[in-house]
Amino acid sequence: MTLDSIVTDAFASSFPGLEGFAAKVVPATDPKFGDYQCNDALKLAKQLHSNPREIAAKVAAAIDRTCFSKVEVAGPGFLNLTVADPWIDARLEELDAADFCGIPQTGAGRKIVIDYSSPNAAKQMHIGHIRSTVIGNAIDRLFRALGYDVVADNHLGDWGTQFGILIKGYRDCLTAEERENLTVATLEKCYVLSAAKAKEEDGAWKDACRRELVKLQQGDAENLALWKRFIDISIAEFERMYAKLGVKFDTYRGESYYNAMMPGVVSRLVDAGLAKESEGALVVDLTGENLGVAIVRKSDGGYNYTTSDLACVESRVAEYAPERIVYVTDDRQQLHFAQFFSIAAKMGVKTTLVHVPFGLMSFQGKAISTREGNLIRLDDLLEEAKRRAYDIVKDRGGDERLAAQIGYGAVKYTDLSHDPATAIDFSWDKALALEGNSGPYLQYAYARVCSLLEKAGGESEAGAFAVALPSERRLALQLLEFAGAVRRAAEAYKPSILADYLFQTAQLYSTFYQASPILKSVERAARLRLAALFGKILSMGLGILGIETPRHI
Ligand code: ARG
Repeated sequence: MTLDSIVTDAFASSFPGLEGFAAKVVPATDPKFGDYQCNDALKLAKQLHSNPREIAAKVAAAIDRTCFSKVEVAGPGFLNLTVADPWIDARLEELDAADFCGIPQTGAGRKIVIDYSSPNAAKQMHIGHIRSTVIGNAIDRLFRALGYDVVADNHLGDWGTQFGILIKGYRDCLTAEERENLTVATLEKCYVLSAAKAKEEDGAWKDACRRELVKLQQGDAENLALWKRFIDISIAEFERMYAKLGVKFDTYRGESYYNAMMPGVVSRLVDAGLAKESEGALVVDLTGENLGVAIVRKSDGGYNYTTSDLACVESRVAEYAPERIVYVTDDRQQLHFAQFFSIAAKMGVKTTLVHVPFGLMSFQGKAISTREGNLIRLDDLLEEAKRRAYDIVKDRGGDERLAAQIGYGAVKYTDLSHDPATAIDFSWDKALALEGNSGPYLQYAYARVCSLLEKAGGESEAGAFAVALPSERRLALQLLEFAGAVRRAAEAYKPSILADYLFQTAQLYSTFYQASPILKSVERAARLRLAALFGKILSMGLGILGIETPRHI
């Protein structure tokens, strides 16, 4: 029974004509008015041809008093609601006993594909890859927490003209030793050298690159083997980063996987009258929808990003029959996704396609740009995070592993605590702050509860719930909102909703902890129980964000 449904029942029994109406209970604007309020009497006045205060009074008289100990009509017709302590205690018992901390398994039997991180091969991951990886992974975990069958797919950029440049560079810019011990860093260097030579005036190098590319496209065994090697090395390097970040993919289907399907997609677009020729290229005209024109086959006969995403969506629908496919990329790709979704719908794709665009990240107040060469490698950033975290924890006997948990957690939480749609600035001071809305703050809050419970002699010391003080009640009511926060975060594709919830919960815990002695009080058993439940929810919630919760810091 939710508070909404209890108040809805009171409306329904007072006004039998109100079919399908759902009341909304929201937190009170001021705690002195109660815990919650409901303003629906004002909204229904017209429909019910009645005065809002009278409506509210009638509903107040009908409300279930085992749930609400105090119901008052205030002002023009607000209902001020105070929840009964025994009702809270009973709900806390249920929450503590529930599987998945009460998160409804609404996704059971439902499939969803999440396409995230998706870096381009043969390049090292840099700070610009954090958001797609971390936000994507949190969305992945949110849907898994709701019981969905998630396919996490890494849509690697593993095809394109850069491979002609790379193969030529591999053959003629690297030493035998570099070729032997090939790494992503070497590939990156080799690309830079080869691309520079391709700009030389006589054009010989450029032509050679193009010949290597054509050979690759035509399936030349040697070039294909080289390409495969570049991809394998890239994936191994990406996986080294993903391991640090606790990220795991079910599949690495790069763009190349869809190569063979692209001609079919284009000929169906032509047959359906959707693609037309324009200046030698094939385009889908979306000007009617204000989306411009999307090229699906270039004038040189090559396919592009749009074609590959169209082939990809058809392949995913055929293979997984998902109810949704979610794409997490930066917001500069919004037009691409709008065009591609529109064409997919015209081709008969029924699956819900969702683009989750995120804003750019700057670093310590400076824009990150490839051109200015101030790209920080993701690995360097993570190592620095670990080093800085180590400086914080070493005096308390913290080791490397703890430093990694805190350092990497801090980087991830910085991202997740902001609405994906906004641009963010990464700063070390904020990321690693021990106070305020940071990963370390929440990890410390968890470790403190663990040590409190240990001091008390373990969770067995905890007794039945018995909330009484305002700070206990507020913490308790907040804990009861956990499943709702998870659901809302998933529905909005905003892990920040869960992060905000956890931060608020930790603040309420801290208020409770400061206001109420625990170990030395007569209510010790009940308060320990509440503290333990807070710890459980916090750890579960951080886990859904992909942030580890060490018990000792
Ligand atoms: N590789 C692309 C990039 O680095 C992102 C791919 C996103 N996924 C997709 N299906 N288009 O920008």
